[in-house]
Amino acid sequence: MLSKKRRDIEAQLVYPTYGERFFTKPIPKFDIPENGMDPKAAYQIIHDELNIDGNPSLNLASFVTTWMEDEAKQLIIENLNKNFVDQDEYPQTGLIQERVVNMLARLCNAQDQDEYVGTATIGSSEAIMLGLLAHKWTFRKRKEKMGKDFSKPNIVVGADVHVVWEKFAKYFDVEMRMIPMKRNDYTLDVDDVRSAIDENTMCVGAVLGTTFTGQLDPIEDINNMLLEVKNEKGWDIPIHVDAASGGFIVPFLYPNLKWDFRLSQVRSINISGHKYGLVYPGVGWLLFKDKTDLPEDLIFYVNYLGGEEATYTLNFSRGSSMIIAQYYNLLRLGRNGYKRIMKNAISNAKYLISEIKKLDYFEIVNDSIKLPVVTLSVLENAGFDVYELSAKLRQRGWIVPAYNLPKNAEDTHILRIVVKENFSRDMADILLHDIKLFADELRKNERTRVATTDKNETHKHIC
Ligand SMILES: Cc1ncc(COP(=O)(O)O)c(C=O)c1O
Repeated sequence: MLSKKRRDIEAQLVYPTYGERFFTKPIPKFDIPENGMDPKAAYQIIHDELNIDGNPSLNLASFVTTWMEDEAKQLIIENLNKNFVDQDEYPQTGLIQERVVNMLARLCNAQDQDEYVGTATIGSSEAIMLGLLAHKWTFRKRKEKMGKDFSKPNIVVGADVHVVWEKFAKYFDVEMRMIPMKRNDYTLDVDDVRSAIDENTMCVGAVLGTTFTGQLDPIEDINNMLLEVKNEKGWDIPIHVDAASGGFIVPFLYPNLKWDFRLSQVRSINISGHKYGLVYPGVGWLLFKDKTDLPEDLIFYVNYLGGEEATYTLNFSRGSSMIIAQYYNLLRLGRNGYKRIMKNAISNAKYLISEIKKLDYFEIVNDSIKLPVVTLSVLENAGFDVYELSAKLRQRGWIVPAYNLPKNAEDTHILRIVVKENFSRDMADILLHDIKLFADELRKNERTRVATTDKNETHKHIC
């Protein structure tokens, strides 16, 4: 939504350019023009305006894919006109989704089954909401069976979760028990989870690669603690793992690290296809441990597209291209291809860390990285802050976000660099060069400003 302030400063009209080659009268910006225009003209206006946007290749803020191979792009374009929900019309597209769900369930070490249960979504947000809805239903059924009150379910998460968890709690009327962050500890603490759960906890949320620092919650420890609680008190509390970022990294790089369906309480997992699944925006995956984790009455069957179709999604129509592009990547790269890419990304991230450490200005927030995410803060005596450096880097085109951590760690201000497949060692060197250049410049400006202030102060006293 455009804010009123922004709208007030925007001119209301688009004025003719290119020597009136394309159109001669201004056209409204916020109302549909009475008449259309030549396609070239419409293209040019929009194309030119979008040049103001950042360059996706220099976008180190986002976890989301900014580069794909030409063959993938070709498949994307070829399938742009297929509505994914029309599975009776496009049965192969539906089958491809099934194949990907199976591949990913196996990647997450689900036990052998005839049929794995999961779905493609628009992204991890939709996948998380659907996963948690399933847990809400299961919780209610279990409580109903026991003749107990089911009206006050809660979820227990750390403050390291993505905002979608809070959205879920609000939109679907569930109590959110959010464990605050600690200074110098930005992941979930098992003992805190133990203190927060009770018999109304419908699910514990754990993150494999937090949005804030890319760190991993101690999922195996949480699982073991929940098993103890199950034995002691009979509370059978499931875990939903938010593997939006880590789901395509950890299985390839650290296959012995247990975070997935090998753990008994992990009943559902989301992964963003459009993050380290290496697909352009518009695809996420929700996976259940087995059929019983998705209550049958949440599945809707529709027949108005010809044939009966089962759906478990929040929206109905959606594009097919990104699901197909995910299948392309899995076939094209195979396990070894993903492993190679992730290894390379980690190695570039570690290189950035080692070089940044050589500069006098910074402290690395998460030194022992598991995901290719570099987070750094600026030392107190640096003479500038993360926001100033982020703004300077933006002038060169780099998009490196600066932000502070949630409550209790809110005085930690950091810069985050997400290293993706297309961020090469050469780009790392250019970025390092620019970081040093701007850091030096900001420090110099600060010293000059302090010196001038001191001089003026002295001058005032003398006068
Ligand atoms: C850990 C985590 N969970 C969920 C999300 C939301 O994912 P999506 O943008 O795919 O909806 C993000 C997005 O960055 C994330 O980092």
